[in-house]
Amino acid sequence: MSGTATPAPRGLDGVVAASTRLSHVDGLAGRLIIGGYELQELAGRVSFDEAASLLWRDHLPDADELAMLRQEMGILRHVPSQTLSVVRAAVRARPIDALRMACATLSLDLPNADDISPPADLAAAKMLTARFPTIIAAHARMSIGEPPIPPREDLSLAANFLYMVHGREPDPIAARALDTYWTTVIDHGMNASTFAGRVIASTRSDMVSAVTGAIGALKGPLHGGAPGPVLDMLVEIGEAGKAEAWVRRELAEGRRIMGFGHRVYKVRDPRADVLAKVAEQMSGAILHDRQLFELARAVEQTTLRVLEEAKPGRNLRTNVEFYTALVLQSLGLHPASFVALFACGRVAGWCAHVIEQHAEDHLIRPQSEYIGPKGLKVAR
Ligand code: ACO
Repeated sequence: MSGTATPAPRGLDGVVAASTRLSHVDGLAGRLIIGGYELQELAGRVSFDEAASLLWRDHLPDADELAMLRQEMGILRHVPSQTLSVVRAAVRARPIDALRMACATLSLDLPNADDISPPADLAAAKMLTARFPTIIAAHARMSIGEPPIPPREDLSLAANFLYMVHGREPDPIAARALDTYWTTVIDHGMNASTFAGRVIASTRSDMVSAVTGAIGALKGPLHGGAPGPVLDMLVEIGEAGKAEAWVRRELAEGRRIMGFGHRVYKVRDPRADVLAKVAEQMSGAILHDRQLFELARAVEQTTLRVLEEAKPGRNLRTNVEFYTALVLQSLGLHPASFVALFACGRVAGWCAHVIEQHAEDHLIRPQSEYIGPKGLKVAR
């Protein structure tokens, strides 16, 4: 450590690393503010593209702005052939890895990929957000040996995604569920992937590079990779009566229960409430089968009780990933794609942070504490 630098807590826990107008996580009150609005004010009440525009342009779009945005992003949904070639080459990779590789190719489709001016950043934000669902749908189709279904411009981003995956127009309730999910996860303070993206942008690197790096940070199970395992857990538990023994065994073997705990929230993650409602609606209106939802509720209650007993004072509560698993499963989407679907929502937030970081134009460059040996001599 040099000069007057002081060591930060492990994992930068509790450190304020940036100022942002984009979102605020109040971990003690269980509140999430997005662009000035409480999550509950936005989720299910504005569409995902409206929420994206709020973050990119600092206000909810009026009717004309929204119509223009939808038209632009509708056209942008079509991905270039070089991107589809990479998706094809990555057909055996996990969807999140295919997305990361395909995302990197999108800079080839920009007039000047190194342009980090506000208009260029906004154009790249629209392009990335419009294309992520197309990439994931194409990967899903190719991985079952089917050709990708070209996007439709007349459907919402979420409805078009479900159409490209399933080959038929979705029920409006299903499309709204996915749209609400994407809005719910659009931004979340200085989470690991957003921080990674901001670090990259702080070097005056471009938006596609920053977003590609952010995808790499999101995929880990401690961040966005938990909903797949949540579903596995529910399937393995099978019935409410077996939950307690299962959770106790996992904890005894030193494993974490996916969908619980959060670095910032010490109370229930407000996103879990929003998504629990969506999951419940999907189970009734679309699946006509409440069994998995009821099992999830029972497993949640048992897990919270056992965690409180096994890890007193840690305040381990339900996080966003728990009900995400149910929502995405109810849409007929494969668990392997869940983290990539998270990226489809979060990409709008990452782009907004890149815009903000480029405007701030200050290099993020902390120091490290050297704990290795000193004074070694080369024995030659
Ligand atoms: N199950 C069991 N124990 C847990 C869990 C969990 N889900 N989460 C934390 N703990 C325990 C740890 O073992 C540790 O116990 P110890 O002090 O006795 O050793 C204590 O709680 C504190 O854990 P940390 O790792 O220091 O907490 P941190 O704030 O770093 O972790 C995290 C947050 C990574 C989300 C963690 O709670 C976790 O691994 N959860 C499961 C994975 C998950 O759901 N990820 C999605 C997070 S939401 C998102 O990023 C979108």
